[in-house]
Amino acid sequence: MLRTHTCGELRIDNLNDTVKLSGWVQKSRDLGGLTFVDLRDRYGVTQLTFNMDDNPGLCEKARELGREFVIQIEGKVIERSSKNNKMPTGNIEIVVEQLNVLNAAQTPPFTIEEDTDGGEELRMKYRYLDLRRKSVQEKLFLRHQLAKEVRNYLDSDQFIEVETPVLIKSTPEGARDFVVPSRMNGGQFYALPQSPQTFKQLLMVAGFDRYFQIVKCFRDEDLRADRQPEFTQIDCEMTFVEQEDILNTFEQMMRHLFKTVKGVELKDFPRMDYADAMRLYGSDKPDIRFGMKFHELNNLTQNKGFKVFDESELVVGICAKACASYSRKQLDKLTDFVRRPQVGAKGLVYVKSNEDGTLKSSVDKFYSEEDLREWAEEMGAEKGDLLLIISGDKNKSRSAMSELRLHMGSELGLRDASTFAPLWVTDFPLLEWDEESERFHAMHHPFTSPKAEDFHKLATAPGEVRANAYDMVINGVEIGGGSIRIHDKTTQHKMLQLLGFSEEEAKAQFGFLMDAFEYGAPPHGGIALGFDRMCALFGGSDSIRDYIAFPKNNSGRDVMIDAPAPVSEEQLDELSLRLKPKK
Ligand code: AMO
Repeated sequence: MLRTHTCGELRIDNLNDTVKLSGWVQKSRDLGGLTFVDLRDRYGVTQLTFNMDDNPGLCEKARELGREFVIQIEGKVIERSSKNNKMPTGNIEIVVEQLNVLNAAQTPPFTIEEDTDGGEELRMKYRYLDLRRKSVQEKLFLRHQLAKEVRNYLDSDQFIEVETPVLIKSTPEGARDFVVPSRMNGGQFYALPQSPQTFKQLLMVAGFDRYFQIVKCFRDEDLRADRQPEFTQIDCEMTFVEQEDILNTFEQMMRHLFKTVKGVELKDFPRMDYADAMRLYGSDKPDIRFGMKFHELNNLTQNKGFKVFDESELVVGICAKACASYSRKQLDKLTDFVRRPQVGAKGLVYVKSNEDGTLKSSVDKFYSEEDLREWAEEMGAEKGDLLLIISGDKNKSRSAMSELRLHMGSELGLRDASTFAPLWVTDFPLLEWDEESERFHAMHHPFTSPKAEDFHKLATAPGEVRANAYDMVINGVEIGGGSIRIHDKTTQHKMLQLLGFSEEEAKAQFGFLMDAFEYGAPPHGGIALGFDRMCALFGGSDSIRDYIAFPKNNSGRDVMIDAPAPVSEEQLDELSLRLKPKK
């Protein structure tokens, strides 16, 4: 037996027990007559002592132990003379009687303790060492716990988990596909699923009624803190449901998870339609932990001689509470912030509502104090507040103001990671116009149904048609999205036409789905929750990478196994991937 206990288990009750422990040497201290070793495993750390007077040979052996050596010991539990109340095992230590080195270790490239000196790239290269750190392990334990709760919850609500294939044909979810060449069908490719969308719909046609799957999805898109090329969804689908049923089901699931995993009671999720989200927050995933809503100021600001505002499609402002005391330098910094290419505003206008009742702006030349007072009133500003105004093209100004609002929210400490503000955003547009390809794209995906009341606009004003589509947003993060689906061939066909698919393309790509719709397809709908994002949210972090055991870096590389990598000429030949020289 390599161990009788784990390194996190022994307490004062175990005094005088003879025990065996196995683990890694976290650190050792040689105090001359005494050598202390901290032995670590997944469960904790236990202090071992070696006494020169009692057992000089063993003590010499202990002195040779390096960090991360794997050892096994046998010894007796004694009470510590100087207790450590920060450690659960801090009241005891083990006087070692036998020591076996199970495996030596090289000095690790960074310290494997809570405050590590390893940079991100180095830790990713040696991820198995990074994963030895308690705080990193805890993130994966949280992930495990969440997955377990999700399975239990959905199982108790009649959902069954069904695995769908990974080698499939392209499903358009808005990103590029990762493709896999087929050896047996030279020149042909599988695509890895961007989601199991069409399969889960076919499972509804097959009568499964309620499906879920905790499933890997693959999207070849630009990476950010909340995006990985392979990520995990809690993918769900239900039959004989309307939007309301789905929102209720998954709101309840989320509340259950918050309660069981975090001990947090969430209130009912408020709802906001897409149009309001854009108008009031400039974003389809507003962070409603704080207010600072947008105010549209066109009426109050235009036609007073200030050309910048006069020529703008939108003049929009926010009121930052108690910020009128911002210095010139702070205001310049905010202007620099909104001018960054990622934010994209041309400039920033400010109005200070001073404590003495005066109003001072960066556009005093064009506006009287009376004008500024009207703006302040419209925006609900009080003495001491700062108004920040951006203008220009409607969409661009909204998006820049949204960035500024989030920035101010962070600066003012209004985005506390332990506060949770969930929200359903509903009534998304069905289609969005893509300037580059000069055609409509499905905003969610091509299987989303239009709202019945907007159906008549499909032919005349497709851009105005709203969809039965919804997103679950928590703290400004899109945690999930879904829709009620089209379930008849005629509408699906029409939708594909609108998206610019030719008859042949529609048949080749989605013929199987439209065929299935002719064999008794029930009304159905669903949602997919981003599981990595959920873990990061529960863990109080912005980055999903820490919650993935072996993540990719920002260039989509796994720096540990060094992938992607070239393959041999023979493999290329086998896969019919070598360009044949032209005759
Ligand atoms: P959607 O594309 O909105 O919907 O994806 C669902 C959720 O998956 C998460 N997500 C990601 N997480 C990490 N990295 C990524 N690259 C990434 N991309 C998406 C987000 C998102 O809300 N088939 C539909 C669902 C449906 O209609 O039922 C779908 O995939 O949290």
